[in-house]
Amino acid sequence: MSSQSPRKILVTSALPYANGSIHLGHLVEYIQTDIWVRFQKMQGNECHYVCADDTHGTPIMLRAEKEGITPEQLIARVWQEHYDDFAAFHVQFDNYGSTNSAENKQCAQDIYRTLKASGLIEVRSIEQYYDPVKNMFLPDRFIKGECPKCHAKDQYGDNCEACGAAYAPTDLINPFSAVSGAKPELRNSDHYFFKLSADTCQQFLREWTRSGALQAEAANKMQEWLGAEDENKLSDWDISRDAPYFGFEIPDAPGKYFYVWLDAPVGYMGSFKQLCAKNTLTPSPSPGGRGEQELPLPLGEGWGEGTPLNFDDYWKQGSDTELYHFIGKDILYFHALFWPAMLQHAGFRTPTKLFAHGWLTVNGTKMSKSRGTFITARSYVDHIKNTEYLRYYYAAKLNGSMEDLDLNLEDFVAKVNSDLIGKYVNIASRASGFITKHFDGTIQSLADEKFQILINETRGRVAEAYEARDYAKAVREIMSLADHINADFDSSKPWEKAKKLDDAGAKELLHIICSKALHGFKAMSLMLFPVLPKTARAGLGLFRAGNNPQWHDIGLSLEQKINTYAHLMTRLDPELIKAMVAANQESLKPAPESHSPTRHAEAQQHQPSPLAPLPPAGEGNMIAPIAETISIDDFSKIDLRVAHIVNAEHVEGAEKLLKLTLDIGEEKPRTVFAGIKSAYDPEKLKGRMTVMVANLAPRKMKFGMSEGMVLAASGETPGLFVLSPDDGAMPGMRIK
Ligand code: 2FM
Ligand code: ZN
Repeated sequence: MSSQSPRKILVTSALPYANGSIHLGHLVEYIQTDIWVRFQKMQGNECHYVCADDTHGTPIMLRAEKEGITPEQLIARVWQEHYDDFAAFHVQFDNYGSTNSAENKQCAQDIYRTLKASGLIEVRSIEQYYDPVKNMFLPDRFIKGECPKCHAKDQYGDNCEACGAAYAPTDLINPFSAVSGAKPELRNSDHYFFKLSADTCQQFLREWTRSGALQAEAANKMQEWLGAEDENKLSDWDISRDAPYFGFEIPDAPGKYFYVWLDAPVGYMGSFKQLCAKNTLTPSPSPGGRGEQELPLPLGEGWGEGTPLNFDDYWKQGSDTELYHFIGKDILYFHALFWPAMLQHAGFRTPTKLFAHGWLTVNGTKMSKSRGTFITARSYVDHIKNTEYLRYYYAAKLNGSMEDLDLNLEDFVAKVNSDLIGKYVNIASRASGFITKHFDGTIQSLADEKFQILINETRGRVAEAYEARDYAKAVREIMSLADHINADFDSSKPWEKAKKLDDAGAKELLHIICSKALHGFKAMSLMLFPVLPKTARAGLGLFRAGNNPQWHDIGLSLEQKINTYAHLMTRLDPELIKAMVAANQESLKPAPESHSPTRHAEAQQHQPSPLAPLPPAGEGNMIAPIAETISIDDFSKIDLRVAHIVNAEHVEGAEKLLKLTLDIGEEKPRTVFAGIKSAYDPEKLKGRMTVMVANLAPRKMKFGMSEGMVLAASGETPGLFVLSPDDGAMPGMRIK
C-alpha cells in the first residue's frame, strides 16, 4: 500500500453536542477514528482529521440562559472541556472547530443559496405549539403532557418513555411547556423545507445507496427508508426554526434560523476550511512536520512549509480525494439521506463512505448513572489516568461493524494486564536488561529468516485489518506475534545462558535471543502505534526511533544501539475501577438534564430516563433519581391541603380509577378521579384523611371533571400508598 502514491483522505467524527460532557460512549467513536487516522498517516497517506463542537439549538440557548451567561460563553467553556478530554485520550484532530464559526456560517449559507436557486427549498406554513409565557415555539422535546396511549404523566412531545408509543405533540393530553410550565398554544409559522421528496433527490439517493458508500446493514436501512423503486417515501425536511434560537439566520429570512442539524454536518466543511486557512501542508511523511505531538496543536503551529491545503480539492464535485465520516448508527438518517442529498445538489462531492458503529454498553447493559457506569472522560482520567488502557480495550473489540461494543469492566482489567503488561511490555523489560548489561547496549541484526518472514506477514495482515477497521483482528495478530516472541524467549532460557557468560557460545546465543525478542518488540510497537501512541512511542524510544514512525519501518531489523529500558506501563489495578464506579454512582444526586431537541443526544449518551426501570433490588438501595432542584417559591406554588375522603366509589368502565369526593373545608366538596383502583377497596377509603393538590387546574376526563389530585407513593416494587396526615390534622389545613 505504501508503495502506491499517497492517498488524500479527509476523515471526520460526529460533532459532539456542546451541552454535555464527553463520556466513554462518545469515545468509542473518537478513539476508533483516531486509530484509523494514525494508521493512514503511518502509511504515508495525506490524511486530515477534523471535528468540531456542535453548538446550536434550543437546549444550548436555554441552558446558557439558566446559567446566566450567553450561549457564546457557554459553548466556549464546553469547547475547552471537550478539547481537553480528547487530548487526554490522545485523540488528535488536525483541527477542532465549532459550528458557530464564520467559516461554517459561510458554508451553510452558500449551500442553502444553491439549493434555493435549484428550486429545492420550499416555504410552508406549519402549525406548532407555542409557549405564550416564554414567547417561543417549542421543539417536541420541550412539550410535556400525559401519554395519549398509556396515560403516563410527564411524557415528552414525541414519544412516551413509559409505553414507548410515538405520537405528535398535539396528541398529548394536557400538554404543558417544559420551559415555563405554561399551556402551549397552537400557532402558525412559515418554515423552510429542503425538498428531499423531489425526484432528483430520490433518484440520487438510490444510486448513492448502491455505490458502496454504506455498510451492508446501513444500505438495508436506506432501502427501507427509500422504499421500492416506484415509491416516493421521503418527506421534505424542515430546516428552519423560529427566533429565539441560537444558530445562523437564514439568508433573506429574518427571524428564521437554520435547524441545528442543517449546519452540524456542514461543520465538517467549516472545520476543514479553518484547517486550510490557517495551515500549509507538510508532505507526509517528512519528520518535523505535523509530527505526533500528543496535544492537538494550536492552529498554525507545528506545520512546516509545504503545499497549501486547498478546500476545493477535498470538497468540490468530482474531487478524487476520499471523504469518510465515522458516525454512530443513531445518526445514519442524517448522514445517509439529508447530507449526501444536500451536498450533491449544492455542487459538492459526496462522502466516499460512512463508517457507522454501534453503541457502548458497560457490563452488558446501557450505561447507567445509578450503577455508576455512566462514566465521563474526565472521571476516567481522574481515576484511572492511563487512557491507553481504554484505547487498547476498544481496539481489541472493534470490528468495523454496527454491533454494540461491551466494556466489561472485569474483562477490561484482565485483558489490559494480560496483553499489554504480560505480553507486550514484558518482552522489552526482560530482554533489554541483558543487552544493556552484557552487550554494551547493542542488538544484532536479525538472523532468523523465518521470524523475519513472520514479522513481514503479520505486518501485511495487520495493515489490512486496520484499513478495514477490524482492529480486533489487528490486535489478535499483534498479540499472536507477542505469544510467539515470548514462547521463543522462554524456551531459549536466556537466564541460563546469562549464568555461563564465560562460554562464548552461550553468550552469543544470549545475544541472539535477546536481539530477536527486541526486534519483535520493535515491530509490535510500530504496529501498536495507532492504538497506543504514547506507550508505543516510548517503546520505540528504546531504539532511538524518530518521532514520526512509519509503517514501512516495520521489519527493519538491523544492528543498532539501544537506550536503557525505562518503565513503560503499570498494571491496571482493579481497585481503581471500583473507585471510579463508586464515584459515578449518582443514585442520590439530581437527575440529569434531559432536555434535547432530538433523541440523538440522549441516544448517543445512553442517558437513562428517570422512568427507566431501576436495577433489581440487591444491587444496593436504589431510588429513582431526585428531580431537578426547585426554589421555595416554586414549591409554594403547589397548594397542598388535608382532605377528608367523604366518599369513594368505583367508576363504571374505568380500569384504573376510583371516584373520590373530598372535603377540604370549602363550600362544596370536590370530585377527584384517582388512579388507585388497583390498590384500594373504595369502602376502606371512606372517612380517611389524605392529602391533595388543591390548585391543580381542573381536568376534563372521560368520566367527568377531576378537581385536583390525591397524593400517593409508589416505587419500583409493586404497591401504591395513599398519604395520610398525622392524627389531629383538619380538612383544609395547608401543608407547607
Ligand atoms: O448526535 C449528535 O451528537 C450530533 N451532535 C452529531 C452531529 S454530527 C454532524 F452531523 F455534525
Ligand atoms: Zn405511554
